[in-house]
Amino acid sequence: MDKNSLAEGIHWVGVVDWNLRDFHDFTTRRGTTYNAYLIEDEKTVLVDTVKHMFSDELLCNIQKRVDLEKIDYIIVNHVEMDHSSSLPMVAKKAKNATIIASERGKDAIIEHYGADFKIQTVKTGDELKLGKRTLKFVEAPMLHWPDSMFTYIVEDKILMPNDAFGQHLASGQRFDDEVDEHVLMEEATIYYANILMALGPLIARKIQEVVQMGISPAIIAPSHGIIWRSNPSKIIKAYLDWSAGVSKNKIVIVYDTMWGSTDKMARSIAKGAISEGVEVKMVKLRASDNTEALTEILEAKAVLVGSPTINNGIFPTLGSFMTYVTGLKPKDKLWCFFGSFGWGGGAVRGMTEMAKKAGFKIHEPSLEIKFVPDHEDLKKCFELGKQIAAQVKA
Ligand code: FEO
Repeated sequence: MDKNSLAEGIHWVGVVDWNLRDFHDFTTRRGTTYNAYLIEDEKTVLVDTVKHMFSDELLCNIQKRVDLEKIDYIIVNHVEMDHSSSLPMVAKKAKNATIIASERGKDAIIEHYGADFKIQTVKTGDELKLGKRTLKFVEAPMLHWPDSMFTYIVEDKILMPNDAFGQHLASGQRFDDEVDEHVLMEEATIYYANILMALGPLIARKIQEVVQMGISPAIIAPSHGIIWRSNPSKIIKAYLDWSAGVSKNKIVIVYDTMWGSTDKMARSIAKGAISEGVEVKMVKLRASDNTEALTEILEAKAVLVGSPTINNGIFPTLGSFMTYVTGLKPKDKLWCFFGSFGWGGGAVRGMTEMAKKAGFKIHEPSLEIKFVPDHEDLKKCFELGKQIAAQVKA
């Protein structure tokens, strides 16, 4: 077996995107990979493809091992374009291949690339015999698209769950025992927080369903990043914890500032919370970003969000943050809003309305200061930090 092989006859043929730094507004500071896998048995199978600009590299990787016309099946676990946009080119060259997808995957393939494909649909529990090996399919709707599904190689106990259990981590190595485990878990955490956080209840149910089907993977081979082979239960446990909303006595303060007033407020709130012995993380947007904010929020119990008022409304970076975070719906957090204003307020009211609409639990009253906070104002901020910390500890 070579270094890109998961087992005899099962190979990684994906590509590494070393320089990607923005994945639809998710900051990917360590790049990513698009993982595709080739299974050689009596039948030859390609599982997933890669982003279209890497089509040629994917085709070369496959051709080093087999003639493209030998491919019998192309499994499309998920139609988002980072995994499927090479499909038209691959299908054109792999003339004898039948595409396998979920029912919704078939619809999505046609809606993306037209109807000129031979597609066979599968549902949960369906199997495909390849010779010595059997593929079993598990639909995974909303993990994270309606079309998503997992492919399991029964005899080798290899689960290919596409986006689930992935990380945006470019590396020359393929396996978890070959990379720094802290970097790996950090990227897995960032990925969960920014892609899957809203789907926690579905994730827990899907893991239970997979276990009940008798699927007990020895290897988890996701569509991004590193393959889990030394201890796949580690990432499964992390997903179960995150989906259950496991948290610690931690407060995150996400804010931005125009002339320094909201910054002063944030710093005093932080001091108040720290004086109560809770962990505090400050995330100043424009110095940092939404990706980092959501990662810090994942295991926090409370989030304070501070925005100055501009044009009677929310400061742009906080407007972006509120749109992002209300979509990802962090579980079981306490929220509180603060900020400075000049001639008229609006930011705190606007953020509070967005949070209420998303069903967030809100600490009130919020705290607004006119123009520049003085010593008395900063004492109020310090007290707010203490109050939130007391609720976190309770
Ligand atoms: Fe949902 Fe990696 O695409």
